[in-house]
Amino acid sequence: MTDESGGRQAAKPTPRLLRNFISILGSAMSIASAASILFLILIELLDTRSNPYLGILAYIILPGFLLLGLGLIFIGTLVERRRRSKQGASELSPFPVLDLNDARQRRRFLSFSGFTFLFLFISAFGSYRAYEFTDSVVFCGQLCHSVMNPEFVAYQASAHARVRCVDCHVGAGAGWYLRSKLSGAYQVYSVWFKKYPKPIPTPVHNLRPAQETCEQCHWPEKFFGTQLKMFNHYGFDEKNTLTQVRMLINTGGGSPEKGLVTGIHWHMNIANEITYIANDDHRQVIPWVQRKDPQGNVEEFVAETGALTPDQIASSQKRRMDCVECHNRPAHVYVPPDRAVNESMFAGKMDVSLPFLKEKSVELLSRRFDTTDAAVAAIARDLDAYYRDNYARVYSAKRDSINAAVTEIQRIYKTYFFPEMNVDWTSHVDNIGHYYSIGCFRCHDGKHKTKTGKVIREDCNICHTVLDQIEGVKTIAVKNGSFQHPIDLGDLTGMKCTDCHTGKGLKQ
Ligand code: HEC
Ligand code: HEC
Ligand code: HEC
Ligand code: HEC
Ligand code: HEC
Ligand code: HEC
Repeated sequence: MTDESGGRQAAKPTPRLLRNFISILGSAMSIASAASILFLILIELLDTRSNPYLGILAYIILPGFLLLGLGLIFIGTLVERRRRSKQGASELSPFPVLDLNDARQRRRFLSFSGFTFLFLFISAFGSYRAYEFTDSVVFCGQLCHSVMNPEFVAYQASAHARVRCVDCHVGAGAGWYLRSKLSGAYQVYSVWFKKYPKPIPTPVHNLRPAQETCEQCHWPEKFFGTQLKMFNHYGFDEKNTLTQVRMLINTGGGSPEKGLVTGIHWHMNIANEITYIANDDHRQVIPWVQRKDPQGNVEEFVAETGALTPDQIASSQKRRMDCVECHNRPAHVYVPPDRAVNESMFAGKMDVSLPFLKEKSVELLSRRFDTTDAAVAAIARDLDAYYRDNYARVYSAKRDSINAAVTEIQRIYKTYFFPEMNVDWTSHVDNIGHYYSIGCFRCHDGKHKTKTGKVIREDCNICHTVLDQIEGVKTIAVKNGSFQHPIDLGDLTGMKCTDCHTGKGLKQ
């Protein structure tokens, strides 16, 4: 008996080495993970709705277990070999002997190679899927749910809802991919231990230059021409009177080869290279601006107030103006209450025949709440009570309109306000225009001057031309394309709209 089995053992030592606790555990683990991965991939192929947790399980966690299992099999054989050689099993050769002339060993060798090939193929597919998955909107926006919820929700309401987060935040290329995943790993840690700041800070310091992100889809030389834009404002009066301003915005653009070079994009992006220094993190206070034209002529514009000393200018960090200086909220637009309500009313989602609806909605949306739930409850309670107590007739006749208004104000709140993360339009201002935040007037205030007295102009017609203005039912004549303010304020140049118009309505 000893002879026979001893002989067999010498002929095929490999399978026996596998027969140890660690390797068996490893095999069970690998088989179970492989089967689960295949099963989940199958589900994913059949199910059109994507589920974030499925992806992280199928492409990251389970493959981890699979590799661990394979590792255990290997470690098990090593330990077993060690144990046996200690016991003095002298017939163990240091490496397995492979003899391809032996039909049995040949078969085994072929099936082993086949399996290895298949395994490598599947893992290549798996790692590609893992790469794809970690770049997906679901991974960025939903897995870090509570933290990036504001960005994710507002993004879905933006023009870029179909553009992946990584197309703006990471861009193409392995280096940036790695950088983003490394900082991502830190973010996972900070989320886990609740170390993240609220709100997540802007500017995003590792945001790539716009040339490598935005310009993949929008190239600055594209000529936009003048764009017609209509601004609808509902008044804070009982009738919610509508005021409309229709204007042409001189977006422009173009390239010298094709002709047509004018407008905002041309001046700001193509014809000039503009660099500036900002005092604050949000880049709202800009004391120094430099313009360089293609011939290399340089001009420095210095703010009247808070001018920097030459030493400060030399040592401050300068930033080259690109798309994100003006379009800083292309995807995460936290719309101010005033504008959000104007849009809903204009879209017919709120019944403008309800007295003071504009004023009341803006007031509700401008309150501070601690949680979204508290806000949602207060909006329903207070709007209802307002009409019940002040307008009994309207209340009984227009219950449906009041309920619809409640739903719409709650929707606005849930889309643009995030008290849990301290995010709303005041924490992340939009720099386009100058009505709700100073935006373009950070530099175009007529108070940034060169030594010779040239200013960055604030003339009302350099950026847009007003076509007409309609207030209620009457159309106001417009002189030379300039905006006529509803109440006479004299010369508007040099005036900050934001001094009176805040996103919460008019400052009294
Ligand atoms: C169209 C381009 C674009 C897309 C798509 C995009 N972002 Fe952003 N994101 C930006 C810009 C621009 C900023 C602000 C950069 C600045 O001012 O420094 C920003 C800022 C952020 C911030 C910082 C906080 C804030 O609100 O300023 C977070 C977090 C963020 N994005 C997450 C996401 C997530 C998650 C997605 C996908 C669901 C996404 N982004 C999609 C362009 C984009
Ligand atoms: C992957 C392609 C892609 C990238 C990258 C991209 N965009 Fe867009 N952008 C779009 C599409 C698509 C639209 C929608 C066009 C439409 O609605 O006609 C759009 C629309 C816009 C609009 C008009 C939207 C509006 O609010 O009305 C602006 C402004 C804009 N993008 C700026 C940017 C900026 C700034 C960046 C870089 C931070 C950027 N985009 C990156 C594809 C992209
Ligand atoms: C000086 C500020 C400024 C800079 C810099 C700037 N833009 Fe614009 N852009 C505007 C303004 C203003 C409009 C008009 C639309 C508006 O008012 O919402 C506009 C319009 C656009 C539109 C068309 C929006 C639409 O409704 O169709 C796109 C796309 C766009 N910009 C992309 C870019 C890209 C990409 C860059 C960087 C290469 C860039 N912009 C740089 C101010 C700027
Ligand atoms: C960081 C400072 C800065 C900001 C912010 C800024 N600009 Fe400018 N802008 C300049 C400078 C500098 C010039 C060049 C002035 C010159 O050549 O006289 C300029 C020139 C222009 C011109 C050509 C004006 C002319 O006199 O012919 C237009 C149009 C323009 N900007 C539009 C905008 C718009 C729209 C915004 C906001 C969305 C904006 N700019 C925001 C610095 C700025
Ligand atoms: C540097 C460029 C620039 C200058 C100078 C400028 N504007 Fe504007 N203005 C804009 C842009 C860009 C928008 C569009 C903002 C948007 O798309 O939301 C705008 C929007 C407006 C609107 C509509 C705002 C709203 O939300 O209803 C009015 C009204 C207006 N401007 C009046 C003026 C007046 C009056 C002056 C002169 C004191 C002036 N603008 C100077 C760039 C400029
Ligand atoms: C001194 C305060 C003050 C300043 C500064 C001011 N406004 Fe107004 N604005 C008002 C008041 C008050 C009304 C309301 C008039 C009414 O109810 O008929 C108003 C109404 C408006 C309206 C009609 C829509 C509405 O909400 O009733 C527009 C558009 C407007 N202003 C644009 C501007 C722009 C653009 C600027 C900057 C160039 C500006 N305003 C600067 C006080 C101001």
